[in-house]
Amino acid sequence: MSEMSSPDTSVTTAEAPPARPPFIERLSDSLQNVVKALIGSNRRPPRRFRSLLNGTYLGHPLHPVVTDIPIGAWTVAVVLDIIWLVSPTANAWAANAALGAVAVGFLASLIAFASGWADWSDTYGAERTTGIYHGLLMTSAIILYLISGVLRFTNPAHDTVVAAVLAFAGYAVVAIAGYLGGDMVYAKGTNVNHTAWEFGGEDYEAVLPEKDVADNKLYRVTVSGVPVLLVSLGGKYSAISSTCTHAGGPLDEGELQKGDVVQCPWHGSRFELRTGRVRTGPATIAQPRYDVRVRDGMIELKRMGGH
Ligand code: FES
Repeated sequence: MSEMSSPDTSVTTAEAPPARPPFIERLSDSLQNVVKALIGSNRRPPRRFRSLLNGTYLGHPLHPVVTDIPIGAWTVAVVLDIIWLVSPTANAWAANAALGAVAVGFLASLIAFASGWADWSDTYGAERTTGIYHGLLMTSAIILYLISGVLRFTNPAHDTVVAAVLAFAGYAVVAIAGYLGGDMVYAKGTNVNHTAWEFGGEDYEAVLPEKDVADNKLYRVTVSGVPVLLVSLGGKYSAISSTCTHAGGPLDEGELQKGDVVQCPWHGSRFELRTGRVRTGPATIAQPRYDVRVRDGMIELKRMGGH
């Protein structure tokens, strides 16, 4: 029985057509490739444009900082449009002010647009799927506000009912997209510092015999349950958290580069081994550092910086 059933099973498996990924996954694949090409993800370091969009030079993700501006400005525009609609003649000032608010929001939204898609290009799985809906909705809202702004600008009264309705629709789309953006951060942990919950012990902990450590080689050790990257550079030791602050990549599996830098194997963030500082994004937060000492032939580490 078993001899007969085995070939049948293998034939069925061999003939089964490969499952086609859902449309949204194929769209995400293509879009991520386009975004990465545009922002220079695959270029050699320092990849400044990409780092700029991610917020590396700010020391904080750029996207959440700039999204507040369009949301605030467009909220003001909603109020002004309502005031204008109540009495267009008496409240002509509100039309002018609403045009200004829509324009400010639109200009800031372009930075949010670029930084958001840059961040999204490094996501996978569920956060990538939520992220593409978030991004497409926000892009739709920006287009609605662009049309609304053009209608206002070209109208002598600087507002029309159609322009106001388009802005209301855009605001509703922003609200839905904003909810999805919040879900990415608070439920899925996108762009959250992946070392935020790492803590160190009160004292130094022995991790390796000094004789076992070669120069210019990456070692993964554990301190108070936390994976730490240890390296000897010209006989001087450096140790930083081995979990990349960007998305949790294992730095001990990364590449040791010139200038005492380690590059993350997942998205190419580069960190100074001596200071933990981010040299190249997408990471924006420095790696936690460890003090290193040698006692009785053993290398001992202790977390620095308050934990
Ligand atoms: S996990 Fe993204 S660069 Fe390290």
